[in-house]
Amino acid sequence: MVEERVISPNRHPDEANAEQSLRPRNLAEYIGQERIVDTLLVTLTAAKERSEPLDHVLLHGPPGLGKTTLANVIAAEMGVNIKVTSGPVIQRPGDLAAILTNLRPGDVLFVDEVHRLSRAVEEVLYPAMEDYALDVMIGKGPSARSIRLQLPRFTMVGATTRLALMTSPLRARFGVMCRLDFYDLDAMCAIVERSASILGVPISSDGVHEIAARSRGTPRVANRLLKRVRDVAQVRGDGTIDAAIAGEAMQLLQVDQLGLDDSDRRVLETIIDKFDGGPVGLDTLAAALSEDADTIMDVYEPFLLQLGFLERTPRGRTATRRAYEHLHRGIPAPSNLQENLF
Ligand SMILES: Nc1ncnc2c1ncn2[C@@H]1O[C@H](COP(=O)(O)OP(=O)(O)OP(=O)(O)O)[C@@H](O)[C@H]1O
Ligand SMILES: [Mg+2]
Repeated sequence: MVEERVISPNRHPDEANAEQSLRPRNLAEYIGQERIVDTLLVTLTAAKERSEPLDHVLLHGPPGLGKTTLANVIAAEMGVNIKVTSGPVIQRPGDLAAILTNLRPGDVLFVDEVHRLSRAVEEVLYPAMEDYALDVMIGKGPSARSIRLQLPRFTMVGATTRLALMTSPLRARFGVMCRLDFYDLDAMCAIVERSASILGVPISSDGVHEIAARSRGTPRVANRLLKRVRDVAQVRGDGTIDAAIAGEAMQLLQVDQLGLDDSDRRVLETIIDKFDGGPVGLDTLAAALSEDADTIMDVYEPFLLQLGFLERTPRGRTATRRAYEHLHRGIPAPSNLQENLF
C-alpha cells in the first residue's frame, strides 16, 4: 500500500505527534525555501509595523515540504492564534460561518486542502476574505432578505497540493502566493542535522549526507528515514549514525541512491517495458500498474519529474534517457525516443 512506503511524502497515520516535535517554530528555524522566507519576512514586518493583519497567504506544492509548518510559523511570527481546519471538513456554509464568527481580530485561519471546499462554502468565503463580511440570509421565500455582519479582520492561510483544482475566483483573493519546491541537498543536510540534534542521535557528516541525498528533497521523508536509520544504528552498531550504517539501513528499506523505492522503479519499468518508453496516457499507465490515476499524479510523478526521469507531454508520459540509465537499461535507438527530449 502506498501509505506504508518509507519514502511516501504523505504523512503516515501514526506520525502526527512526532512531526510536531520536529517542526520549526519560527522563520529563523525554518530551513530552505529562501524566496518564500524572504517574501514572508517583508510582508510580516510591514503588516506588523502598520498594526494590520497579514494579507491572505496561499501555500502550494507537493506533500511533506512544510506548508502546515509555514502556516503555524506565520501565526507565531504575527503573535496570533491559529485556527486549523480543512476543505473537506467544512461541509456547509453554516460550518464556515461558525468558524469565521469565532475568530478574534488578527487570527490566522488555516484551511488545508483548500481546493476541496465546496462551491457553496466558497461563496461565503469571498466576501469574508475581501471585506471581512458575512452575508446571512434571514427568512424564506419572498420576505427573505440578507443582512451583512462584520467579521474581525483575519488572515486566511490556504494550503493545497493541487493548485490546478482551485477555482480562479478563490485563487484571486490571496494576496501572497507561495510555491514550495523540493529542497536542495544543502537544505536537506541542514534539516537532517537539526532533526538528529532534536532527537539526540549522534550522526557523522557523511551519515547526514547519506540520509539527505535519499530523502527526495522532502523534509517529511528525511525525518522518517532518520528514525529508521537510528533503529539500525542502535541494533547493529553503537547508536551512532555514519555513512556505512545509513547505507545498510537504506538497503534494508530498499531505497536506492536517489531515494527511489520499488514502486517508483515499477512505474518507470512499466513505461519502458510495456509502452516502449512512452508516451503513454495517464489512465492507461494507471491501469497497467493497478493504481489510480490520482495516486500516480500526486505521489509518484512529482519526484520523478523533478529528477528528470519522466516527461509529461501532450500525448502522455515518457521515460527519459536518464531513467533508462538509472535502471541500467539499454537506451533505445533515437527513433523510439521523443527527439525533443534529448
Ligand atoms: N523548512 C523546514 N525545516 C525543517 N523541517 C521542516 C521544514 N519544512 C518541513 N519540515 C518538517 O517536515 C514535516 C512535514 O512538514 P509539513 O507537515 O509542514 O508538510 P506539508 O507541506 O503540510 O505536507 P502535506 O501536504 O502532507 O500537508 C514537519 O513535521 C517538519 O518537521
Ligand atoms: Mg500539511
